Amino acid sequence: MQEKIIAPSILSADFANLGEEVTTVVNGGANWIHFDVMDNHFVPNLTIGPMVCKALRDYGVEVPIDVHLMAQPVDRLIKEFAEAGATYISFHPEASDDVGASIESIRSFGCKPALVLNPDVNLDRLEGYLKNLDMVLLMSVFPGFAGQEFIPAVIEKIKELRQMIDGLDLDVRLEIDGGIKLENISEVSLAGADTFVAGSAIFGEKSYKEVISKMQKCIE
Ligand code: DX5
Ligand code: ZN
Repeated sequence: MQEKIIAPSILSADFANLGEEVTTVVNGGANWIHFDVMDNHFVPNLTIGPMVCKALRDYGVEVPIDVHLMAQPVDRLIKEFAEAGATYISFHPEASDDVGASIESIRSFGCKPALVLNPDVNLDRLEGYLKNLDMVLLMSVFPGFAGQEFIPAVIEKIKELRQMIDGLDLDVRLEIDGGIKLENISEVSLAGADTFVAGSAIFGEKSYKEVISKMQKCIE
């Protein structure tokens, strides 16, 4: 099993103070920064793009930036995010005309590719791609907004994907995104996730450090 990673989603950060927010959350123990890109087309919300990713790098953010594309088409954005300093780039297969080519494109720009599956998308969708990925992101809410409730049925999907990854002895991370909080992170970890996105549960607290260290204890 891979090292456990906590990746706060800046969707719930104070955008008027973004550099400072990211510094505080990294100093509080965040391993990565999760960067939610919404285009008002693939999902009904509009957030941030490559310029903001580059601005964070220029500000001095050094931790991996985990770009979650909820946008369509994906291919031009891949190049722009790679140039803006992204580390991981994940996309939803239904947003690409050629999933294999988009995965290869992410890799050719020196980033780590991931596929994202919505709660109603079957693990079969990974067929033919799993061994070419660095990570699979399972959504535990329907993407678009922070602060939604975790969908419990996803626990079984995590267990199944963990078995697939371990059965094939692959070096692929299993990330979970949506409704993760202190009350459920331990169950999600026991099911087999190794990478945990949390937005409102971290940025909604006074002390990011306190909530992150509590989360770390739950997944040890
Ligand atoms: C959902 C986004 C998530 C979201 C997580 O569309 O992809 O990353 O910001 O927020 P919480 O942790 O509040 O569910
Ligand atoms: Zn996300």
